[in-house]
Amino acid sequence: MYNEKVVDHFNNPRNVGELADADAIGETGSFKCGDTMTLYLKVRNGIIEDVRFQTYGCGAAIASSSMLTEMVKGKTLDQALAITNQDVADELGGLPPLKLHCSNLAADALHNAIENYRARQGIGKTG
Ligand code: FES
Repeated sequence: MYNEKVVDHFNNPRNVGELADADAIGETGSFKCGDTMTLYLKVRNGIIEDVRFQTYGCGAAIASSSMLTEMVKGKTLDQALAITNQDVADELGGLPPLKLHCSNLAADALHNAIENYRARQGIGKTG
Protein backbone atom coordinates (compact mmCIF):
# COMPACT_ATOMS: atom_id res chain seq x y z
CA MET A 1 0.00 0.00 0.00
CA TYR A 2 2.85 2.42 0.82
CA ASN A 3 5.90 2.93 -1.39
CA GLU A 4 9.44 2.31 -0.12
CA LYS A 5 10.15 5.95 0.69
CA VAL A 6 7.03 6.26 2.83
CA VAL A 7 7.87 3.03 4.66
CA ASP A 8 11.44 4.24 5.23
CA HIS A 9 10.27 7.55 6.73
CA PHE A 10 7.72 5.72 8.86
CA ASN A 11 10.23 3.18 10.15
CA ASN A 12 13.10 5.66 10.56
CA PRO A 13 11.47 9.05 11.09
CA ARG A 14 13.90 11.97 10.87
CA ASN A 15 13.99 14.84 13.38
CA VAL A 16 11.64 13.33 15.94
CA GLY A 17 11.29 15.03 19.30
CA GLU A 18 11.08 18.44 20.83
CA LEU A 19 13.24 21.58 20.67
CA ALA A 20 13.39 22.97 24.18
CA ASP A 21 14.51 26.39 22.91
CA ALA A 22 12.19 26.50 19.91
CA ASP A 23 11.46 29.91 18.40
CA ALA A 24 8.07 28.71 17.21
CA ILE A 25 5.64 25.87 17.79
CA GLY A 26 2.86 24.79 15.46
CA GLU A 27 0.14 22.37 16.44
CA THR A 28 -2.58 20.77 14.44
CA GLY A 29 -4.95 17.84 14.50
CA SER A 30 -7.21 15.98 12.15
CA PHE A 31 -10.93 16.03 12.90
CA LYS A 32 -11.20 13.00 10.65
CA CYS A 33 -9.11 10.63 12.76
CA GLY A 34 -7.99 12.49 15.90
CA ASP A 35 -4.30 12.32 14.96
CA THR A 36 -2.16 15.27 16.12
CA MET A 37 1.15 16.85 15.25
CA THR A 38 3.38 19.40 16.94
CA LEU A 39 6.22 21.04 15.03
CA TYR A 40 9.11 22.95 16.63
CA LEU A 41 11.22 25.45 14.69
CA LYS A 42 14.52 27.13 15.40
CA VAL A 43 14.84 30.22 13.19
CA ARG A 44 17.95 32.33 12.54
CA ASN A 45 17.91 35.36 10.26
CA GLY A 46 14.70 34.22 8.61
CA ILE A 47 16.06 30.73 7.87
CA ILE A 48 14.79 27.52 9.46
CA GLU A 49 17.90 26.27 11.16
CA ASP A 50 16.46 23.29 12.99
CA VAL A 51 13.17 21.45 13.21
CA ARG A 52 11.62 18.61 15.25
CA PHE A 53 8.24 16.98 15.30
CA GLN A 54 6.00 14.90 17.51
CA THR A 55 3.20 13.13 15.70
CA TYR A 56 0.62 10.83 17.18
CA GLY A 57 -0.88 9.38 14.11
CA CYS A 58 -0.94 6.86 11.33
CA GLY A 59 2.06 5.75 9.29
CA ALA A 60 1.34 8.24 6.52
CA ALA A 61 1.15 11.10 9.03
CA ILE A 62 4.47 10.14 10.57
CA ALA A 63 6.13 9.71 7.16
CA SER A 64 4.71 13.08 6.03
CA SER A 65 5.98 14.78 9.18
CA SER A 66 9.43 13.27 8.77
CA MET A 67 9.59 14.22 5.09
CA LEU A 68 8.46 17.74 5.85
CA THR A 69 11.27 18.27 8.36
CA GLU A 70 13.79 17.34 5.69
CA MET A 71 12.11 19.70 3.21
CA VAL A 72 12.11 22.79 5.45
CA LYS A 73 15.60 22.73 6.95
CA GLY A 74 17.63 25.58 5.46
CA LYS A 75 14.61 27.21 3.83
CA THR A 76 13.46 30.78 4.38
CA LEU A 77 10.13 31.22 6.16
CA ASP A 78 8.50 32.36 2.91
CA GLN A 79 9.81 29.31 1.05
CA ALA A 80 8.55 27.07 3.84
CA LEU A 81 5.17 28.79 3.85
CA ALA A 82 4.78 27.92 0.17
CA ILE A 83 5.05 24.17 0.88
CA THR A 84 1.68 22.46 0.42
CA ASN A 85 0.42 19.08 1.54
CA GLN A 86 0.61 18.02 -2.10
CA ASP A 87 4.32 18.96 -2.16
CA VAL A 88 4.89 16.72 0.88
CA ALA A 89 2.98 13.84 -0.71
CA ASP A 90 4.87 14.33 -4.00
CA GLU A 91 8.22 14.36 -2.21
CA LEU A 92 7.25 11.05 -0.62
CA GLY A 93 6.63 9.65 -4.09
CA GLY A 94 2.89 9.72 -3.55
CA LEU A 95 0.44 8.51 -0.92
CA PRO A 96 -2.56 6.24 -1.40
CA PRO A 97 -5.64 8.38 -2.17
CA LEU A 98 -7.27 7.47 1.14
CA LYS A 99 -4.17 8.66 2.98
CA LEU A 100 -3.66 11.96 1.18
CA HIS A 101 -5.33 13.91 3.98
CA CYS A 102 -2.61 12.70 6.35
CA SER A 103 -0.06 14.95 4.66
CA ASN A 104 -2.30 17.89 5.63
CA LEU A 105 -1.18 17.48 9.23
CA ALA A 106 2.45 18.22 8.35
CA ALA A 107 1.77 21.20 6.08
CA ASP A 108 -0.80 22.67 8.50
CA ALA A 109 1.53 22.33 11.49
CA LEU A 110 4.28 24.05 9.50
CA HIS A 111 2.04 26.93 8.51
CA ASN A 112 0.83 27.28 12.11
CA ALA A 113 4.43 27.28 13.38
CA ILE A 114 5.40 30.06 10.96
CA GLU A 115 2.34 32.05 12.03
CA ASN A 116 3.35 31.47 15.65
CA TYR A 117 6.89 32.68 14.90
CA ARG A 118 5.64 35.82 13.21
CA ALA A 119 3.22 36.53 16.05
CA ARG A 120 6.04 36.13 18.58
CA GLN A 121 8.18 38.54 16.55
CA GLY A 122 5.29 40.97 16.17
CA ILE A 123 5.39 40.55 12.39
CA GLY A 124 2.11 40.94 10.59
CA LYS A 125 0.32 42.35 13.63
CA THR A 126 -1.97 45.24 12.97
CA GLY A 127 -2.70 48.06 15.39
FE1 FES B 1 -5.04 10.30 10.74
FE2 FES B 1 -3.60 9.60 8.73
S1 FES B 1 -5.33 8.57 9.46
S2 FES B 1 -3.50 11.44 9.82
